[in-house]
Amino acid sequence: MWLRMRFDIEWFDVAYGLCRAGTRRDRAELERSIRERWPSPEQMFPCLSVRTAFDLLWKALDFPPGSEVVMSALTIPDMVRIVEHHRLVPVPADLNVADMAPDLDSIRRAITPATRAIVVAHLFGSRIPIEPILEIARQHGLLVIEDCAQAFAGCHFDGHAGADVSMFSFGPIKTATAFGGGVFRVGDPRILSRMESLHAEYPVQSRGSYLKRFAKYSVLKGMSCRPLRDAILAVYRAAGFDYDRWISGVVRAFPGPKWLDRLRHQPSAPLLSLLERRLSTFDETWLAARTARGNRMARLMPDGAMRPAMNASEHSYWVFPILADEPDRVVAALAQAGFDATRRSSLRAVEPPADRPELDPHHARDILSRMIFLPLCPEMPRREMERMGKILESQADCLTKVSAGSETPVLFPRMLGGSRSG
Ligand SMILES: Cc1ncc(COP(=O)(O)O)c(C=O)c1O
Repeated sequence: MWLRMRFDIEWFDVAYGLCRAGTRRDRAELERSIRERWPSPEQMFPCLSVRTAFDLLWKALDFPPGSEVVMSALTIPDMVRIVEHHRLVPVPADLNVADMAPDLDSIRRAITPATRAIVVAHLFGSRIPIEPILEIARQHGLLVIEDCAQAFAGCHFDGHAGADVSMFSFGPIKTATAFGGGVFRVGDPRILSRMESLHAEYPVQSRGSYLKRFAKYSVLKGMSCRPLRDAILAVYRAAGFDYDRWISGVVRAFPGPKWLDRLRHQPSAPLLSLLERRLSTFDETWLAARTARGNRMARLMPDGAMRPAMNASEHSYWVFPILADEPDRVVAALAQAGFDATRRSSLRAVEPPADRPELDPHHARDILSRMIFLPLCPEMPRREMERMGKILESQADCLTKVSAGSETPVLFPRMLGGSRSG
């Protein structure tokens, strides 16, 4: 069985991370070394996770309660919870399925005099052109925050030069994972220094908690190796457990009611050590191979099948989502052929404020309801990809199609010419 969930880390790195658990290296020196991997070291800010620094950012900005933050309409729920925790109002900007960029009209409609910032997420490994969004932000005096958690492509890309903040995640299932860690680029030195002084007040992640995390993900990595993985899957299936659901829950970094307390920590020296190693040894040819694999799979898709971000100008295929009108049937057909595709996603639609139901992100909800992630992984040989393509071909009538006569994919064909853009 080919599984989607995998950890982008080699056993050699795992061994290094374990050895570093007892490291006495200076955290400040490690942070400096991480910063120096990026083009603008003085703007970089290593932290425990993207969520840690996203929370710090709002603390540092200290916007008045009720200020609004326009957000890409699909993100992980914690990003919304963090905004709300600071008594700010998240406002969704609906997405264009073709490139997963927030729709410009949706952004314009979402902006009010209370808006302070726009958070743009680059999803699935694709990168969206944010220039038009920067232009809108400039007209309204808004900050632009780029969520690159799913879009790390090597340290040469530290975010769009025009963005005020760009954030990269090295969480458990991310590219170049260190089983945790995040790096932010913050353009304004005043905001950065405020974030740094607030950060300095946080307790440092204990070695014990690093080791616990590290052990958990190492075991999960071990479990994801064939044939152990196949045996575990068979046991789960026989017992009626949903493996995918279980693993999605286990990889949540900050579970439980004390999630905010958990994320408000400085990274420990061992985590920084491993992160520094992952960045310094990152292999861009490996990323190029992943991109080529994604492009090959794209060519194997049935004619006219619609995919999120299918027209993205840059895509490194962190994951490979497709869309289906009847997703359960497609998942079942793939499973029968040994491909463990999944409908499970950590993304959720951002809810509109109660008094602005017209901003409901219909496209984002529709994408979520149709989305299936294919288990495309580096070990999958070409012939297996071709076999997966053939299964999809046999299910072509269940897949969502690009609308006939439309140059870009539109999720709501019935709305063409209607009031909704997209
Ligand atoms: C789009 C997006 N934003 C933010 C995050 C949070 O990253 P971290 O786990 O480093 O807090 C994630 C993690 O899954 C994500 O996918």
